[in-house]
Amino acid sequence: MLSYLTFLAPVALSLFSSGAQAAHITRRATTCNGHPEFCSRTYGNVTYVGAHDSYAVGVNNLAVNQDYNITQQLSDGVRMLQMQTHNLNGAIQLCHTSCALFNGGSLQTYLGTVKTWMDANPNDVVSLLIVNSDGFKPTDYDTVFKAAGLDTISYAPQSANIPASQWPTLGDMIDSNKRLVTFMDHGADFTSVPYLIDEFTNVWETEFDVTDTTFDCNVNRTNGDPTTQMYLINHFLDKLVLGQPAPNKDVANVTNGVSGTGSLGQQVQTCVAANGRNPNFMLVDGTPDFSHHPYPPPVVATTAPIPVQPTPPDNQFQLHVDAPPSRGTGRGPYGSGDMDDGYTLVFESQAAFEAWREKEEEENVVEFVKGDTHGSKAVPPRFKEHVKLVCARHSRSGRKKYVKKFPDRVRKVPSRKLEGKGCPASISYKTYFDRQEVRVCYVSHHSHEIGPANLPFTRRGARAQVGGKTPSSSRPPENMPPPQPIASTSTAPPPPAPFEVRECAQDP
Ligand SMILES: *[C@@H]1O[C@H](CO)[C@@H](O)[C@H](O)[C@H]1NC(C)=O
Ligand SMILES: *[C@@H]1O[C@H](CO)[C@@H](O)[C@H](O)[C@H]1NC(C)=O
Ligand SMILES: *[C@@H]1O[C@H](CO)[C@@H](O)[C@H](O)[C@H]1NC(C)=O
Ligand SMILES: *[C@@H]1O[C@H](CO)[C@@H](O)[C@H](O)[C@H]1NC(C)=O
Repeated sequence: MLSYLTFLAPVALSLFSSGAQAAHITRRATTCNGHPEFCSRTYGNVTYVGAHDSYAVGVNNLAVNQDYNITQQLSDGVRMLQMQTHNLNGAIQLCHTSCALFNGGSLQTYLGTVKTWMDANPNDVVSLLIVNSDGFKPTDYDTVFKAAGLDTISYAPQSANIPASQWPTLGDMIDSNKRLVTFMDHGADFTSVPYLIDEFTNVWETEFDVTDTTFDCNVNRTNGDPTTQMYLINHFLDKLVLGQPAPNKDVANVTNGVSGTGSLGQQVQTCVAANGRNPNFMLVDGTPDFSHHPYPPPVVATTAPIPVQPTPPDNQFQLHVDAPPSRGTGRGPYGSGDMDDGYTLVFESQAAFEAWREKEEEENVVEFVKGDTHGSKAVPPRFKEHVKLVCARHSRSGRKKYVKKFPDRVRKVPSRKLEGKGCPASISYKTYFDRQEVRVCYVSHHSHEIGPANLPFTRRGARAQVGGKTPSSSRPPENMPPPQPIASTSTAPPPPAPFEVRECAQDP
């Protein structure tokens, strides 16, 4: 079967092995937005990093949001470009608040750059979000899209409103070369230019221009049913300068971080807990880019399902970032053909692994405890031991009833198990007979707050509390260092993507 598919691949590769469907669907794209598995995912079931005011690039200007130009943003994995349009002598111009304050050039020039990148990357779906500040008509935009050659690759839906679940797959969009999706905040008209999609009947948004780090997940703007719409989180932090919001760049590393107060990772967790599904778009200031920043990009890949009620079986929380193929997709340098099973972190020894795990627990103020352990049942055995460490706040369901080791001990601290929905975070690892190597599958997404807030739920916090050192369990102690995003070190291989969490395959 495999060799058959491989042989046919250059011609037409059907992803469906069975009968009727196979006759209709021929798939050419084998990698979509950098991930083979995205080809069969619907557009509405993928999470994209978006660049807020993507054209406002520069330094030393209060009106700039981005450090790198849009070509670089796209190459860094950004797949939604947001922009504000203004009327400059009749032309559609990309300015910030006003063209006197910041003029980012004409829409046509900008779209030309997008076209160049998309031509060079034919297996990528890109979205635009236009804030139509000066109320240009859809036909005005159509003229500019045509001039840039983007009208022909623009996706026009069947109807003006599409629930998140009704979008085509990325594979279908790429195969039909309709892979530019354009939303407009107001003024869209499906009957006149169908590829300019009205944003708020299709997407709801969280609050924007916030100046505190709460980043809740409440519906702030919508013109539809938020339970079925896609949604966008505005994850950029402003500060007030002369009463006006301006990007708060000083703490960009925290805002775009993976964990801790005000981080992107934390807002995503808040949203998953509130909505039972991942955001579709995450709008950020500053390009989330491994190579240019000392902190990991706010990228989120597959997370294990979190049981929020009611959870239809097909509503897994799969949060994906579009890592560009050039940067690798979590498959890559470690070779071995073992990559698809999720064991993508490789340590040279058990000691190196333990050091990494301790650092991970320390930095995120979390604790992993031993779950299942088993050997390989295959002959010859494929590994020596498989150990699953689960977050101490995992769910009890389906597990052996806990028998108190010391029945007369009285519980002095609150139970750390989360009632009902357990935390899905886990570290599964395998050891081998013929080598020291340890391979790890890391599900790093916790369903609860991590960082100092989690301290009372760790042994360290519990000890401090029982010993009377921490006055209140709900308040993190003052001297607790802020959680640090995972830093790359040369001793242990860093996680390819810090949120790169997927289900860990159980191989025999
Ligand atoms: C965009 O930025 C990259 C470096 O980040 C640079 O190499 C490239 O020339 C820039 N492109 C344009 C059109 O300015
Ligand atoms: C949306 O956010 C803005 C800005 O914070 C706020 O003024 C407004 O009341 C919010 N609207 C809703 C419906 O939550
Ligand atoms: C989203 O994609 C995952 C992975 O393919 C799939 O299991 C799930 O059913 C999809 N969810 C929806 C709502 O389409
Ligand atoms: C963010 O950057 C500031 C200034 O460079 C630094 O002091 C701080 O430790 C960084 N925080 C994180 C979470 O990386």
